[in-house]
Amino acid sequence: MKVLGWFRKRKGEKGEMKFTESPVIDLTVNGTNLSIQQDNATMHVGTSVWPCSLVLSKFAERWSTLSSSSSSPNPYSSLLDFRNRRAVELGTGCGVAGMAFHLLGLTEIILTDMAQVMPALKHNLKRNKAALGKYLKTSIVSWSNRDQIAALNPPFDLVIAADVVYIEESVGDLVAAMGALVKDDGVVLLGYQVRSVEADKLFWEMCGVVFEVEKVPHGDLHPEYAYEEADVYVFRKKVKKVIESGGSE
Ligand SMILES: C[S@@+](CC[C@H](N)C(=O)[O-])C[C@H]1O[C@@H](n2cnc3c(N)ncnc32)[C@H](O)[C@@H]1O
Repeated sequence: MKVLGWFRKRKGEKGEMKFTESPVIDLTVNGTNLSIQQDNATMHVGTSVWPCSLVLSKFAERWSTLSSSSSSPNPYSSLLDFRNRRAVELGTGCGVAGMAFHLLGLTEIILTDMAQVMPALKHNLKRNKAALGKYLKTSIVSWSNRDQIAALNPPFDLVIAADVVYIEESVGDLVAAMGALVKDDGVVLLGYQVRSVEADKLFWEMCGVVFEVEKVPHGDLHPEYAYEEADVYVFRKKVKKVIESGGSE
């Protein structure tokens, strides 16, 4: 399945998006340039850079405690303080969000996707090795594969994902994987755009069971990397209610 509905140019509009279908996507994060080679001609969605990964990355950069020089209050300072945090990215594709978060101080991150995507991911990690200062960790993880999830050694402080909700049949596995990977007091950070009405509906129903969901106000996204249909969400696990007997439900 190839979903290429995201390409947009809004010439003349305020906040024009900088996404292109060119073979190389450049993204500057915290002063370092990432250069991601994408292949829109293949039949696999993971070999293209999807815009929510850029929206998520630049949101994180905007409020990062590393790059922030402003003395004004930062509502995301705790969320984006990556010191001593372990993270995993689900459905990383070409790896742009994982690489961006690494440049924002999230040095312990594992980039995961299905086996078919690994050549494109590894090519881009090699291409950006100098910018990143090292070759980032990768792992083959299908969301339905419990052994692959367990092999990552969860739980993690942070799970990131961008543009991963587009197949209704895999929504249950995705939400279960997020729940299994994130610590009880950890956070899931998601770049999101509706790609399928059915997948969207099921995803939010299932997330509502497991997570408290917070939507980042649009005004808090990076002004040059925001567009109407894209959002960033923060998920935190629902606190188990302690019942009077001392057990939990
Ligand atoms: C639309 S692409 C987004 C890629 C990347 N996050 C980005 O924003 O550029 C969705 C990604 O999710 C991965 N994916 C889809 N279903 C998956 C599954 N069941 N298990 C693991 N990865 C999956 C795909 O291989 C693909 O890389």
